Amino acid sequence: MFDSKSISLLTEAVKHLESGFSELPDINQEPDLEGLRKTLLSVAETMRDNYPYFHPLYAGQMMKPPHPVARLAYTLALWINPNNHALDAGRASSQLEKDAVASIAEMFGWDKYLGHLTGGGTMANLEALWVAGRLNPGKLIVTSEQAHYTHGRISEILGLEFKPVPCDQKARMDLKALKQILETENVGTVVITVGTTGTGSIDPLVETLELQSQYGFRIHIDSAYGGYFTLADNLSPHGRRVYDALKSVDSIVIDPHKHGLQPYGCGCVLFRDPAIGRFYKHDSPYTYFSSSDLHLGEISLECSRAGASAVALWATQQLLPLTREGQFASDLSKSRSAALDLHQRVQEDPRFVPLMEPDTDIVVWAPKAESASRVSQLSRRIFEKTAEKNLHLAVFSYPAKKMKAVLKEMEIDQESVACLRSCLMKPQHKEWMDRIWELLNQSMQEID
Ligand SMILES: Cc1ncc(COP(=O)(O)O)c(C=O)c1O
Repeated sequence: MFDSKSISLLTEAVKHLESGFSELPDINQEPDLEGLRKTLLSVAETMRDNYPYFHPLYAGQMMKPPHPVARLAYTLALWINPNNHALDAGRASSQLEKDAVASIAEMFGWDKYLGHLTGGGTMANLEALWVAGRLNPGKLIVTSEQAHYTHGRISEILGLEFKPVPCDQKARMDLKALKQILETENVGTVVITVGTTGTGSIDPLVETLELQSQYGFRIHIDSAYGGYFTLADNLSPHGRRVYDALKSVDSIVIDPHKHGLQPYGCGCVLFRDPAIGRFYKHDSPYTYFSSSDLHLGEISLECSRAGASAVALWATQQLLPLTREGQFASDLSKSRSAALDLHQRVQEDPRFVPLMEPDTDIVVWAPKAESASRVSQLSRRIFEKTAEKNLHLAVFSYPAKKMKAVLKEMEIDQESVACLRSCLMKPQHKEWMDRIWELLNQSMQEID
């Protein structure tokens, strides 16, 4: 089930790395093999207590295994353990980070930018909103009500006013509601989510850009989840228009540790105007920026960061370049087509109702029932029953009022409805859809 064949490649690569330091006197390190073995086996034992995130029958939360090359390159880098804070602590890995980030920027059509990797999407969004607040002090940050909760919390940390904008039936930011806020409030930044966490929805960027010329706010893109879909060849016309407009925004966040095949600890933030680098300026007596070349610690809020993350990302992009023609793009298109397939099956099945058409590769649907409480109860039963059969879905809470538009006969006896949600992030989900559907069917027959 797990790829272990590739592990042997690591021995050769470690030796190759070591030979670069052969001029140094030996330090004679003998590992305590028996101690290591015992500890590792106990770790393996403990780690069995996980859902099988790596398997296509795990079709629940946002979980995707890293590519073998990312796993191997990350591990290889740990023999050095570089820190990308400063060139002095990670010369080679800092260069790999700059190259890897340049490829991501190029994917969005940017050749001039300022950007770097971060510990994840939250940290990357924090930096983007921090810069937004520095440029527009005292002005409001707005996101759709379906945006990741991190934006409200980050605004609180930064002392910035924050307001959620209602969504339309497709869980995208409602333009009328946005316009109303722009008319009445002093908005500094509009956060457009390209691939919301809950439903994978894509906010209306093109129309927001038109409003920007009228009202003059910054546009920050949170595409922590959806950013890489710009390479997919089967987006809806709405999705394509949004991705093609990304070059005109002010900042972008994308998470290589979501759809970029990376281990956790790899987010990325990009700013279109390199001059914002001035906000990061700091002067500390214990930092050792020994050359005039760019040290990544001079343009990031985090101090120490794993150089290994950059090494893994660079290696992955070498093997799977971020181009529309390559394997990486075609795997993303497969994920999206798995979602379209599941959506169609749900739509054609009288027992279910989809909440909206998927914009990316997340499908949200619900069992039909007479009341919000009954829909919720059924969703939870299905979630449990499918899990017993090793099919793992997720439960998602949606406003009952919005749900009523797709399930007209449903009585609203509670504010929100528990629905079912699948993030179909693995390209294999497409081939596994018959099996997934069969297990869902069997589970439906076993519940009342
Ligand atoms: C759209 C979006 N933004 C931000 C985040 C937060 O990113 P992270 O979990 O990497 O901190 C997520 C995580 O799911 C997300 O989906």
